[in-house]
Amino acid sequence: MKKFNEEVVVITGAAQGIGASSAKLFIEAGASVVLTDILAEKGEALAKKLGQNAVFMKLDVTKRSDWENVVQQTIKTFGNISVLVNNAGIVMQQPFETAKDEDFHKTYMVNQFGVYLGMHVVYPSMKQLKKGAIINVSSTSGFRGKAGLMAYNGSKFAVRGMSKSAALEFAPDNIRVNSVHPGFIHTPMTDDNISEAYKQKAIEDTPLKRGGDAEEVAKMIVFLASDDASFSTGSEFIVDGGRLA
Ligand SMILES: NC(=O)c1ccc[n+]([C@@H]2O[C@H](COP(=O)([O-])OP(=O)(O)OC[C@H]3O[C@@H](n4cnc5c(N)ncnc54)[C@H](O)[C@@H]3O)[C@@H](O)[C@H]2O)c1
Repeated sequence: MKKFNEEVVVITGAAQGIGASSAKLFIEAGASVVLTDILAEKGEALAKKLGQNAVFMKLDVTKRSDWENVVQQTIKTFGNISVLVNNAGIVMQQPFETAKDEDFHKTYMVNQFGVYLGMHVVYPSMKQLKKGAIINVSSTSGFRGKAGLMAYNGSKFAVRGMSKSAALEFAPDNIRVNSVHPGFIHTPMTDDNISEAYKQKAIEDTPLKRGGDAEEVAKMIVFLASDDASFSTGSEFIVDGGRLA
């Protein structure tokens, strides 16, 4: 079903995992998609595979100049941006006592400041269209604390709050803003950065007794970007196999 014929979608962290799955589903639904990431080679290859309605642009979400360049190039290539998926994120699991200031700062910069920057730089393009949907990817860690994840927890709670603030401020321009909260999902993030013991525990704690697939989160993201979600804004959408129930 082609739901997104006129939509121009920008996705951060789209070279792999949840961002890559989202890009694929948006393309299948007829959108024009700008995949962005710091992983240029991987992102370029994926965009090529997705066809002529997909392009890759290198973007470090912590850099305003990168964002400005992406917005400029996207408008030139496809027109004004109607959907923004702030998905890029990092996680560092470490005991609080040995936590390093620079790790806390990096997590804040990517997971929280990057989401702020994305909304700040893309908003004028949506305002011009008088229409838009922003989906900010938080986590179940935006709802409850976890030992060893203070920086991540802080950033993901913040994304939830920032999404609500933006939803209220952007509503007069017909721009909806929602946050998505994945539970334990099989992606390179969890494969590469999370201990085996933590993974087993996460699956045990999940009532559906499995980790989710990236596509299961991507489907929620695409739904929130679509007109099917036209009356939803400032809200949280949980995709966690029942973990927070
Ligand atoms: N996988 C999970 O279990 C899970 C659970 C809850 C929330 N999330 C959230 O979902 C989002 C996507 O996670 P994923 O599991 O697909 O992770 P992933 O590591 O597979 O993908 C994240 C992408 O973000 C990119 N990225 C990192 N720093 C960046 C930067 N400074 N600028 C631009 N891109 C950058 C990476 O290169 C990578 O391609 C993240 O925000 C993550 O916190 C994931």
